[in-house]
Amino acid sequence: MSAAIQPNTGRPMPRIEAGLKVSGAIAYTGDIGIPDLLHAVLVPSPIARGTIRTVDTTAVEAVPGVVRVFTPETMPKLPSVPEQPDWDIMYGSAFVPMADMTIHYAGQPIGLVLAETLEAARHAATLLRFAFTEDAPVVSLDGGPDLSGEAYHEPEQVWLGFLAGYLPATVKRGKGAVALDDADVSIEGSWRLSNNHHNPMEPVASTAVWDGADRLTLYETSQHVYNHRNGLAKLLGLPRENVRVVTHYVGGGFGCKGPVWSHSWLVALTAREVGRPVRLVLSRAQMYTSVGFREEQRIDLRLGATRDGRLVAADVTKLSATPAWEDWVEPSWYPFTFMYDLPALETRCRLRRANVMAPTFMRAPGEAPGMLVQECALNELAAELGIDPIELRLRNHADVYPVDGSPWSSKRLKNCYRVGAERFGWSSRNPTPRSMRADGMLIGMGMASASHTVYRQRAQARVTVTADGTAHVASGATDIGTGSATFLRQIVADELALPLDWVLPLIGDSSLPEAPMQAGASLTGSLAPAAMTAARDLKTRLLEMAIGQDESPLHGRNAGDLELNDGRIVAGGKETSETVTTVLRRAGLTRMSCDGRFDPGGVGQVRSGDPERDAREGPRGMHSFGAIFAKVAVDPELGLIRVRQLTGVYACGRILNPKLAESQLIGGITWGMSQALFESTHMDPRFGRFTNTNMAEYMIPVNLDVPTIDVTFLDDPDPFINPAGVKGVGEIGITGVAAAISDAVWHATGKRLRHTPILAEALLED
Ligand code: MOS
Repeated sequence: MSAAIQPNTGRPMPRIEAGLKVSGAIAYTGDIGIPDLLHAVLVPSPIARGTIRTVDTTAVEAVPGVVRVFTPETMPKLPSVPEQPDWDIMYGSAFVPMADMTIHYAGQPIGLVLAETLEAARHAATLLRFAFTEDAPVVSLDGGPDLSGEAYHEPEQVWLGFLAGYLPATVKRGKGAVALDDADVSIEGSWRLSNNHHNPMEPVASTAVWDGADRLTLYETSQHVYNHRNGLAKLLGLPRENVRVVTHYVGGGFGCKGPVWSHSWLVALTAREVGRPVRLVLSRAQMYTSVGFREEQRIDLRLGATRDGRLVAADVTKLSATPAWEDWVEPSWYPFTFMYDLPALETRCRLRRANVMAPTFMRAPGEAPGMLVQECALNELAAELGIDPIELRLRNHADVYPVDGSPWSSKRLKNCYRVGAERFGWSSRNPTPRSMRADGMLIGMGMASASHTVYRQRAQARVTVTADGTAHVASGATDIGTGSATFLRQIVADELALPLDWVLPLIGDSSLPEAPMQAGASLTGSLAPAAMTAARDLKTRLLEMAIGQDESPLHGRNAGDLELNDGRIVAGGKETSETVTTVLRRAGLTRMSCDGRFDPGGVGQVRSGDPERDAREGPRGMHSFGAIFAKVAVDPELGLIRVRQLTGVYACGRILNPKLAESQLIGGITWGMSQALFESTHMDPRFGRFTNTNMAEYMIPVNLDVPTIDVTFLDDPDPFINPAGVKGVGEIGITGVAAAISDAVWHATGKRLRHTPILAEALLED
């Protein structure tokens, strides 16, 4: 092991757990072996609105193996209920099911059956009988009074949890919508976006294990073990240190596993009541009514420009449904505030109180639908004005952060357009629609911008070297498939100059140092600097320790002359060295640790995290950017759309691991394609129920649908955002894709379709 250690950061490397995952060796949350376990099965309400009149548990209790059945009449009460806003805890919803007999949405939990086997619980759950008084549900966005008797209400701001805080919904910039009168041309339209559901491969699962009545271990499918710990402690009235949340592996999250939802506390309450561990794994169908979704939305837009393609004003209205008890709205108007040099803007959101559960965050919340509409409108405008879509975007490039006029921390969007156009072959596009054909198919090309806000969170990591020469890096972060453990290992191996496999990452447990939510593409940028700091401090302490030891050959040396290499402390010129092991043992230590922190200083996207620097340089707009290009082939007879090429070029800060980052983008771009052409959860308005709550009827692309996706990252380290220079890659991939595909469909067919998903039948209509 004398060869110089290669830097690992910046190199493409597989995930540490990749082999374990593909071989099926991993125990996901619902697989963890727990002695004396009871299996819980949730009983969802079949009606969307009404009241439970009577409950009959007789048949359930007669099933062999059933231990208990809980109903709204017998469910233990929560000592404390969720309240919004909470700057410490992110709840999926403030609603507490099984606390009374009122039904607000189909799928609302109304029973929980506990049995010795999953089979017994599942069977018994079908035997729980209710008599309901049923009312006609309100689920439609179109017309009629909502549950409060109004057509809608218009909140002035929306609460988006502690990551983004409050966001204004009624924005007015410049002259507002009246500025549209000054425009030479305008695009006016309504975009209709379908209901979408997170469908992580691993369903949501909770297992509650009590030690007495006041110490809880919760094995949870969580994007943030500290959020679940803090939430469960508060709701159950326990000190935080009495609750431990463990999430070793996550099979996809996409937003639905971030907040605290009711299934977790229902499991904890019932496990305490029966005095045994209880596990609940939601069925695929229950995933559609238990952990939020991306709500169906109508976005009305008026966008005005001058004849030479300068944007003049936009007026944006979003309409969607929210539950009876709270406002939740995806901020789809938000991209209009930051993306282009738009001198006048007015936005508002309209919410209809309806018999739906609370929607929630789903990949690139706000940006995914908002960029879709904004970029579609820009492409319509480009066609209307006869300006190339890239040229139109260049003419409206925001040179400063449009929200407050501050500079960008970094922005390489123009380079993304240029490199993307080259890689994609944009110059071969004949701008006339229906002008390109191949093999009897209509060929279309489209493009769009991509962007995502950079969110940053407080994070901690602890790096430890042990007397056997190995190291570990510990943080309570979870890994939802993005590679948290892998990048932690890469960073610490580099900082300590250790072979990669001498560094063990420990994550996914609230007994480890506090890490933030894995959400908002913010975990890597927040945690990487914490791990770097911890490792650098540890290195400094090791060197100082050796220098201070009388018997060390390094005694009295200058710290600046010493380096770590391959488990040794080496003096300049390498003539003298000694192992870390020797230095630690001489000091009588079996291990030594240092903690590192990253603290961006609260919610907000425009501070550096360093007050002195902010005072000196001022705030910055912080976003990742990209350009996405799509080529489609459309069957002129059948309207079938085939995506032939997707090319994305991104500037997302420093890339710690190009392989994992590319995987994030491929996944996000595939989802954008799915948003454009596949995904829709259908609501039956008569019953207020989703009808396709399974993976056979909820359409997503399969491998054969997805072309090769060409992803390029521009070199873009951004030290303003954090010392690691990382902006994050988890969310941006989905943004812009649906607009690029929608424009490619127009280019192929001449048809503008302002809805998702775009299905063949819409192309066949005249
Ligand atoms: Mo992401 S929607 O913030 O998990």
